[in-house]
Amino acid sequence: MKSSPQSKKKVIIAIDGPAASGKSTTARLLAKRLSYLYLDTGAMYRALTWKALKDKVDIRDEKTLSKLAEKVQIYLKPELNLENRIYLDNQEITSFLRSPKVNRYVSQVSTVKRVREILVAQQRKIGKNGGIVAEGRDITTVVFPYAEVKIFLKASLKERVRRRWKEDKEKGISSKKEEIAAGLLHRDRIDSQRKTSPLRVSPEAIVIDNTNLTISETVNKIVDIVKKSFAQ
Ligand code: CDP
Ligand code: CDP
Repeated sequence: MKSSPQSKKKVIIAIDGPAASGKSTTARLLAKRLSYLYLDTGAMYRALTWKALKDKVDIRDEKTLSKLAEKVQIYLKPELNLENRIYLDNQEITSFLRSPKVNRYVSQVSTVKRVREILVAQQRKIGKNGGIVAEGRDITTVVFPYAEVKIFLKASLKERVRRRWKEDKEKGISSKKEEIAAGLLHRDRIDSQRKTSPLRVSPEAIVIDNTNLTISETVNKIVDIVKKSFAQ
């Protein structure tokens, strides 16, 4: 009988990569295909950033940001086949998390060591039974370094900008490609250069450049990798 990922032990699939490299879309569809949970860790950093901006916290004040992270309840509800819904102190805030303001400040908030400790602990709790596709910046290296499948997803800057520009256009927002590029490069720079858990390619990760791949081609590639690692 042919073996399928579904018929075997449910493992952890960890995906990292820079902004707009296709992580969320790919991870969500992959999770759906395998009947796994999808975990969008970026949404947790975005939730804390949203709260800090709402409370007018100085984004460079690490102490206050750490206290805020200790105090608030960020609840991420992974649901089968659906986007994660994000709650902060029982208020659903999912629709506020991709605003230009949150985009601008989230990487700065994500440099704070204590903030990361708190959110990483929650992410590990969610993934403790396996059967999860988790994506972010430090998933293959720090959150789930023991994940059975580790992927680093990348795409050219030009393509990443085109993707975000197209998303804006579909939302009726006319944005400038130069501004999108500057925003992505700004976040990539902070995310890769920070001291705690920087974005980097794990030596154990399989790198997939999806610049010229469709979403389903990317998902298929990862499904093949998952099947191969189950076959070993
Ligand atoms: O979707 P996009 O790639 O634009 O961003 P995201 O995955 O929602 O992550 C937003 C920001 O959160 C990133 O630019 C990082 O600064 C931070 N982040 C992180 O530090 N560690 C993670 N595991 C996930 C996100
Ligand atoms: O999560 P991350 O920021 O890495 O990227 P995303 O939000 O999954 O993808 C950014 C945009 O690129 C989305 O609108 C996707 O539909 C699109 N995309 C694409 O056109 N082709 C791919 N191979 C992957 C993503």
